[in-house]
Order: sequence, then structure tokens, then C-alpha cells
Amino acid sequence: MDKILFITLFTIVFSLFSSSASAQWTTIVNGTKWTDTDGNPVYANGGNFLHKDGVWYLVGEDRSKPWMPDVNLYSSTDFVHWTFEKKIIRNRVSHPDLGRRRMIERPKLLFCEETQKYVVWCHWEARDYSASEAAMFECDSVNGDYQYVWSGRPMDTKSRDCNVFVDNDGTTYFISTTDENTNLGLFMLMTDYRHVFTKTVLCEGMRREAPAIVHIDDTYYMISSACTGWDPNQAKLTTSHNLHFGWTPLRNIGDRIAYDTQASSILTINGTEGTTYLYVGDRWMDPSLAESKIIILPIEWRNPETGDVAHQKDENHPEMVLNYRDSFDIDFERGVWRE
Ligand code: DGJ
Repeated sequence: MDKILFITLFTIVFSLFSSSASAQWTTIVNGTKWTDTDGNPVYANGGNFLHKDGVWYLVGEDRSKPWMPDVNLYSSTDFVHWTFEKKIIRNRVSHPDLGRRRMIERPKLLFCEETQKYVVWCHWEARDYSASEAAMFECDSVNGDYQYVWSGRPMDTKSRDCNVFVDNDGTTYFISTTDENTNLGLFMLMTDYRHVFTKTVLCEGMRREAPAIVHIDDTYYMISSACTGWDPNQAKLTTSHNLHFGWTPLRNIGDRIAYDTQASSILTINGTEGTTYLYVGDRWMDPSLAESKIIILPIEWRNPETGDVAHQKDENHPEMVLNYRDSFDIDFERGVWRE
């Protein structure tokens, strides 16, 4: 065989072999209720994911009892097989008011480097949403009984639908819909995560909720929804080079009902070959509150001149785009995804 032809064939076969040997594709399927490793439905809406020491943790509302959600914790090493760990916050147990005068929505799990404790910040609400409070719990282990630390209105601000945001430098924020669903309040957490100590008003008067923020390169991206209860609506994106000011006017992202979801978080999957950003949304009331689903979509990036869309953000593809995928594959090691 011609030497050049042999070398070419060898290179092709070797590269095919080595890429398939290193590829670890995980398929994420949307639209069905996840089940845990015991075969039970995964109840973890309005929550978030925490990746720590090689383990994914999923925390969220247990809407199997629709109006009295406990807080469930699941774990997984592959993002597909979820083991039920524990009800980490329980009605009538974790606090005397919980399950009586208060309920929890949107629990968000964090790990605090300073205290070495696991922390949950959440919306702490009355059945008619008149309380407008937040709460904070903590625990020495991820799957222990979380202890109540604080509840109230952060910096005397009426606070409802909430999220957390950990900036790339580790600064951590609680962000919530404030002042009777009028504004967003961005509250910096003290380094022990027990209290908030600064407040910035974002999206003033725009009546946004379900804010999910990610910091990519020199830009912050925030996806949020309008306040329409459990009904989906058009998600909107705003960006800024500074977390505290300079946010662009809201622009539509995704279809007119955000593919029947409401944002809960944006995950950064940093790998050896790239970084993939995953939009995580709740598909509420599908058809009941208990049947609400978790929907995960890979964020895509558009070239504004050509309209060409790429899987990874680069200087030619700076615009965030959200398309629906019934399923897609992701390689968490390499940080890449495919259709
Ligand atoms: C939408 C919010 O995002 C949910 O967390 C919940 O508060 C519902 N509204 C209640 O109507």
C-alpha cells in the first residue's frame, strides 16, 4: 500500500478510535417525569443542582403533597440515575410554622466554604403569598436534617420567588422578586451565607420572577419570566458587564411560553474541550403540580451577522439562544454536547 495512503488511513482509524474511547455521552431526555433508582417519581421542582466532589446533588420541592412541599434531596454520579437521599427539610419538623403558617418554595442548595456547611436558601411563604419572606437553613452534611437559622424579609424587603447566584469569584447572592412582584432584589450574602448585607434593585418595575443568572467571560446573562402564577410565559434575557447596573433591555428568548417552562437555573459544564451551559426549567402543572417536570436544554449561540448557531460560545457566536430538544447528549468530561 502506498505509504501516504497507509498513514492517512491509520490516522483516521486512530482518531476515530481514540475519540470514541474518550467520549462519554449522557443522554438527557425531556418531557417525562424522572424516576429515582427505587423507581419512584423524582419530586424536586423549583430547586437547583450542586456539583461537589464528583457527585451531583438535586434539591427541590416535593410537590407530591402539592400545598405542603417538603424539600427533597437526590444524588447522582452520572446525572441520569438519581438516588433519593432524604427529605432534608420537613413540614412540622424542621420548624413549627412549616406546614402550618408557612410553606417553602424554590429551595436552593449551596456549600459554604467558610463554615463548611451545606446551606438552603428558599422562599418562605404563607398560603396566600402575603408573608413575602425568605428563609435559610444549614447542615453539617449534605444529607442530614437541615436546621432552621433565619427567616424574614431580607433588608426589610418583601421577597417572593427566589434564586441564588454564585459568581465566578465565589461571591454569592440571593436574588428574589420583591415589592409585591415589582422589582428584583439582588442581595449579597455574608461569607457565612447566614445573612444578606447589600441590596441592588434590578429590572425595576418590570415585574419579573424566576431569575437565573450565569457569568460567562465578561458578561452576566439573566433569564427570567413574567409573573403569571403557574402558567408559562415568554422568557426574557438581559445581559450586563456589571452585575449591579448596565443591564440591557429585556429581549425574548425561546418560544412564547419558554417551551412550557419557567427558569430555575443555568448550569455551567466546564470540560476539557469546551463549556456547555444548560438551561434548567420547571414545567409546572403538567397536568398537576405533582406531575411538574424538570426540563433541561443546552444553550446555543448565534452569530448575529450570519444567523448561524453554534453549540459553544465564541467570538463569532456571542448571542444566547434557547431551542427545544426532546433529547440531547452531553459529555460532562469534555463539556460538549450533540443532538
Ligand atoms: C410562580 C413561581 O415561580 C413559583 O415558584 C410559584 O411561586 C408560583 N408562581 C405560584 O403561583
